[in-house]
Amino acid sequence: MTKTVRLGIAGLGTVGGGVLDILAKHAALVMARAGAKIEVTAVSARNKAKNRGHDLSRLTWYDDPVKLAADANIDVFIELMGGDGDPAKAAVELAINAGKHVITANKALLAHHGSALARLAEQKGVALNFEASVAGGIPIIKTIREGLAGNRVGKLFGIMNGTCNYILTKMANEGRSFADVLKEAQALGYAEADPTFDVGGFDTAHKLAVLTSLAFGSEVNLGAIDIEGIEAITLEDIRNASDLGYKIKLLGVAVASEEGIEQRVSPTLVPKGSPVSDTDGVFNAVVVKGDFVGDLMLEGRGAGAHPTASAVLSDIVDIARGNFRPAFGVPAADLRPYKAAPPKAHEGGYYVALELRDKPGAVAAVARVLAEENISIESIVQRGKSEKDAVRATAPFILITHDTVDTAMRAALARIETDGHVASHPRMIRIERL
Ligand code: HSE
Repeated sequence: MTKTVRLGIAGLGTVGGGVLDILAKHAALVMARAGAKIEVTAVSARNKAKNRGHDLSRLTWYDDPVKLAADANIDVFIELMGGDGDPAKAAVELAINAGKHVITANKALLAHHGSALARLAEQKGVALNFEASVAGGIPIIKTIREGLAGNRVGKLFGIMNGTCNYILTKMANEGRSFADVLKEAQALGYAEADPTFDVGGFDTAHKLAVLTSLAFGSEVNLGAIDIEGIEAITLEDIRNASDLGYKIKLLGVAVASEEGIEQRVSPTLVPKGSPVSDTDGVFNAVVVKGDFVGDLMLEGRGAGAHPTASAVLSDIVDIARGNFRPAFGVPAADLRPYKAAPPKAHEGGYYVALELRDKPGAVAAVARVLAEENISIESIVQRGKSEKDAVRATAPFILITHDTVDTAMRAALARIETDGHVASHPRMIRIERL
């Protein structure tokens, strides 16, 4: 007789609804691949009355996801609520302690508690699978954990937040404001419940922390990531970057060397035509550099109900087949303590945008500060004045620097601002040669 794998789903929002859709549409396909009947037996969500387009009347309903996690009639607890604390954390821990497999799309939970949860799951002999937590429908977790098992990964980077990529793409292509496009991304179900997680770079950081651990075999360390979001990026920056041959993307980057690991999230100028530069809209792309495989890039839909649910389905099938491994590729006890690499000059330099006060000596003063901070200028672009500049008696001034250290750049810009040569906060964006 075919076995049955019983699922309990906590969270019936965008992704939870997507999982129900796929299970309804592809029941036979999923059963064939899983070698088991897959049945949702219990669910929990905030609002029981909401019409989700699925008949839930025969399922056990829980208002409290922690109670769902304790239900003796589920084999797999699927956590699709989000949030790095309770109830998600309590529910996942309880499910694992009760010997149930866990699937989660919750990158925040993993970024904060990933190593501990992996240890707990291994002690209890259950799966902790999280394909949906990073880059939506792109099977990047499986690729790193299984497909690249024979490689040492030296670097990975990518666009891992669909909302930010959607916003930057629409701003560039349609000349629309940041706030206007953000509203649209929220309406389309791409954004987090609190969109500052998206635009502030935190969602990308959560995902990067997970990939870093998987790729380099180190403990998850969200706190080690330098995080900068896209809130300060203006239409002028996007246009200037384009004129200079670049696009602006929010990148997560992790590099491992003998000295340690470097992780950062920041808006970045990427040369047009380079890997990831053509990844637009809600699409994500992740590049992994393995020592034997070379460069690998996976691109696909990084957010939205069905792509993300597609990743959850892959975890369900793996668990049904008994195909699961240590969460981060190696047993949690073997994850190396995280060692941060010392700061070094950023290869690629920086784009700097200044709203310079239009008076004699301003350019010379800026050049002097940069020289004193040991920053070499590669090129200077003086743009035509806009009406706003005429009113404010300012002139837009764009600099591209040679390779330099981040701290020197920040120190120079702070001095330029304090000295009163600029009328607004200077903007600096990293340039990646990729
Ligand atoms: N808010 C996320 C994004 C959803 O925009 O990519 C997927 O994690």
